[in-house]
Amino acid sequence: MSAVDSPLNQLLSQIDPKRLPRHVGIIMDGNGRWAESRGQDRLVGHREGSRSVRAITRLSRKLGLQALTLYAFSSQNWQRPAEEVAGLMALLREYLVGERDEIMDNDIRLTALGDLDKLPRMVREPLDALMAESAGNGAMTLSLALSYGGREELLMACRALLAEGCAAEALDEARFEQRLYTAHLPQLDLVIRTSGELRLSNFLLWQSAYAEMHFTDILWPDFREEAFAHALLDYQARERRCGKTGAQVRLVSGE
Ligand code: FPP
Repeated sequence: MSAVDSPLNQLLSQIDPKRLPRHVGIIMDGNGRWAESRGQDRLVGHREGSRSVRAITRLSRKLGLQALTLYAFSSQNWQRPAEEVAGLMALLREYLVGERDEIMDNDIRLTALGDLDKLPRMVREPLDALMAESAGNGAMTLSLALSYGGREELLMACRALLAEGCAAEALDEARFEQRLYTAHLPQLDLVIRTSGELRLSNFLLWQSAYAEMHFTDILWPDFREEAFAHALLDYQARERRCGKTGAQVRLVSGE
């Protein structure tokens, strides 16, 4: 079989480039179970998971997605054993240093969402450096949710609005969104969660209001290009009504 008609290329050829989600968020779950099922340390799963990060970022860029947001470390993940937290921080640093060229060569802007002040310097420094260096890149925005929680983000936005003296009658959705970590990102259209869990776990709570959900049993370290293509095809099979009727939506899209 030639590369042209490989199973992946066959799947990719079915994706309509005009109907891609603008912004995909991924809850990358199952690293620990992936490793434990092989009798290995959980960190081995996180390391293999970082290879999935690379594969999915590359394909997102190749397909022309505007934004990809990855839930890499939640506000609640600080409660994990110190050894696992330290291992994850080391892996994040390795990723930020090691992926610098790939990110710059592909015109990707790197941003981060979350309480970044909580991150150790060994992560914060390469993160700040790459965010600054890539700030002018425009082909795609890759955001890492780090020390991130959706409830924490909503409270942070409320505090910022109160601090700037925003009057109750001056507050609307647009102004509120300006105070979220995602103010610079397009609307979230698709949320993917791996590993069979069926919940949002505090990920992009405001932003997911009208997002499509794709849940898969595949564990994150095994979630590679074909699984992502299936998720995008699943998204394209949905009708995005956002409160309207199906007839109204089809009228606007000319179907
Ligand atoms: C959830 O799996 C995953 C995490 C808490 C960390 C995600 C981190 C990575 C994918 C690697 C590093 C990230 C980047 C951006 C290089 P889990 O540990 O909760 O798995 P389990 O539910 O099977 O225990």
